[in-house]
Amino acid sequence: MRFLTALALLLSLVSAAPRPDGPPGDGTKGDTSATDPRPLVDSARLQKTLTRKALLDHASKLIEFAKQDPEGNRGFGGVGHNLTVQYIAKWFAQWPDYYDVKLQEFVELYSAGTAALSVEGENLEVTEFTYSPSGKPTAELAAVNNLGCEAADFPPEVDGRIALISRGTCEFGLKQGPYVPTAGVSQEIGQALLADLAAGPVVASLDIFSVNENRTTYNVLATTKGGNQDNVVQLGGHTDSIVGPGVNDNGSGFIAELEVAKALTRYKVNNAVRFSFWSAEEFGLLGAEYYVKNLPESELAKIRLYLNFDMIASPNLVYFIYDGDGSAFNLTGPAGSDQIEHLFTDFYKRNNLPSSQTAFDGRSDYGPFLEIGNIPSGGLFTGAEGIKTAEQAALYGGVAGEAYDPNYHGKGDDFNNVDIDGWLVNTKAVAHSVATYARSLKGFPVREPPAGNFTAPARKRHVHLHERGEFNALGERRVRACGHGHKVTLF
Ligand SMILES: *[C@@H]1O[C@H](CO)[C@@H](O)[C@H](O)[C@H]1NC(C)=O
Ligand SMILES: *[C@@H]1O[C@H](CO)[C@@H](O)[C@H](O)[C@H]1NC(C)=O
Ligand SMILES: *[C@@H]1O[C@H](CO)[C@@H](O)[C@H](O)[C@H]1NC(C)=O
Ligand SMILES: *[C@@H]1O[C@H](CO)[C@@H](O)[C@H](O)[C@H]1NC(C)=O
Ligand SMILES: [Zn+2]
Repeated sequence: MRFLTALALLLSLVSAAPRPDGPPGDGTKGDTSATDPRPLVDSARLQKTLTRKALLDHASKLIEFAKQDPEGNRGFGGVGHNLTVQYIAKWFAQWPDYYDVKLQEFVELYSAGTAALSVEGENLEVTEFTYSPSGKPTAELAAVNNLGCEAADFPPEVDGRIALISRGTCEFGLKQGPYVPTAGVSQEIGQALLADLAAGPVVASLDIFSVNENRTTYNVLATTKGGNQDNVVQLGGHTDSIVGPGVNDNGSGFIAELEVAKALTRYKVNNAVRFSFWSAEEFGLLGAEYYVKNLPESELAKIRLYLNFDMIASPNLVYFIYDGDGSAFNLTGPAGSDQIEHLFTDFYKRNNLPSSQTAFDGRSDYGPFLEIGNIPSGGLFTGAEGIKTAEQAALYGGVAGEAYDPNYHGKGDDFNNVDIDGWLVNTKAVAHSVATYARSLKGFPVREPPAGNFTAPARKRHVHLHERGEFNALGERRVRACGHGHKVTLF
C-alpha cells in the first residue's frame, strides 16, 4: 500500500501536511481520551449543530468543481474530482491535532465516451459502453441468434458487419466477441431494428468516441487521534461522480461525513473514528476495494464496524436502511450488522419518521468490507433508479411510479435536485451512529474469524454501469477465444 506523503499538488493546499507515519490506525498513537479535556461525544449534542446551510455550502463547491472540469463531472482522477480530493484534505487540515489524515494513491482504468447511431439516415438513441474502444464504422447490421452467449449463436454473415445482440444471461464481454466498438440501444429500438432486418438489409453508421486511460487517484482517510485505535469505527462515502456534479450520488454521503467530522472535533471519543472518502466507486467500488485489499490483516482486525453512506438525499426519497439482519431480503451481514440496522430503525422511529429496508447486496463501497466476511456493516440509502411504489408514496410523500432519483447518474444530479430536509435527517442519522459507537461498543459483537458458512452476497461489480454495459480485461480475454470477426456490437 502506498500512502502519499509528499504530493506537492495536494500539500500546497493544506496547512498541515498529512502525517507521514504508517497506515491509518496503525496503533502507534496512544489513546488520548483519558487526558482529553473535551466532553465525551453525545448523540443529541452532535446532531444539534448540523445544518442544511452547511450541507448546501459543500454541495455548491461540488458544482463549482464539476464546472471547472472539461467533461462537467467529477469522474475520478479528472479536474473536478482532483479538486474534490484537495477540498477534503484541506477540510481536515483545519484540525491537525484531532485527525490523522492520509491520502492513499492508486491507479485505475478510467473510461468515458460518447456514441451516435444512425440507421438509414435516422438518428437513434444510443449509449457508449464503458471501456469500449473508439470507432466510426458504417456497415450492414447482422442479427446474432439467441443471446449471443455461445460461439454458435454468431452466423457467418456477422463478419465485417455490425452485430445486433440481445441482452441477457451472460456477461457483456462474452457476447461482444473481440474488443470492438460497442454501444447499447433500448429493447424497443433493438426490436424495431430486428424487424427491419427481417425485411431486408439495413445499413447503420455508428460513431463512438471514447477515452480509456489509466488515472492516478486518491482515497482520503481521516482518523481521530483520540479513542482506542484497536476499536475503529469506520464510515465511508464515495467522492467521484459519473455524469454531472453528482450532488446526491454521492456527494450527499461524503458531505454528511465532512459535517459530522467537524462536529465531532468538539468532543472526545472512546473508540477511534475513521472517516473514509473513496475514489472510483462508480467504476466498481475500486477505491474501497483497493483499501481493503492493501490493509494488513492486523489493521483490518481493528475495524469493528463499517458504515456506508451513499446517496442519502434523493429527491423522491425513501429512508432505506441496509437489511443487515436479512429479515427482508435474506442477505444477512456478519454478526453486528443486525444491530447496526436496528440502530438506524430506532433513529427514524424516535424522530417519527418511516423507514424501509434495502437489500444488503454489496452495491456500494461496503461490498469489499462485506467480502472480508466478518466486518459488521450497515448504512443508509435513499434510492437511485428504482421506482417508488404507491405504498412508499403513501408513507413518504413524493411521486409513485417515478424513480427515487430521476437524475441518477445524470446532469440533473445537482443542487436543485436533492431533498435537503431528508439529507439533514440522514446526516443526523450519521451523527447518531458515529456518536453511539464512538462512545461505546458495549454489547456489540467482538470480531470473530469469518464463520464457516458465511458467504458474502454475490458482488454486483461495476453495478453503476449495468444499464450502460461495460467490458473489463477479463471479458476481453475470455471472448478473444471465440474470435468472431464482426466490427461492431450493438445490444
Ligand atoms: C489529477 O491528479 C493526479 C494525481 O496527482 C494527476 O496525475 C492528474 O494529472 C490530475 N488530473 C488533472 C486533470 O489535473
Ligand atoms: C493501464 O495499466 C495497466 C497495468 O499497468 C496496463 O496493463 C494497461 O495497458 C494500461 N491501460 C492503458 C489504457 O493505458
Ligand atoms: C435464504 O437464503 C438461504 C441461503 O441462501 C436459503 O437456503 C434459504 O432457503 C433462503 N430463505 C428464504 C426464505 O428464501
Ligand atoms: C452453519 O450454519 C448452521 C445453521 O445456522 C449451523 O448449524 C452450523 O453449525 C454452521 N456451520 C459452521 C461450519 O459454522
Ligand atoms: Zn453512482
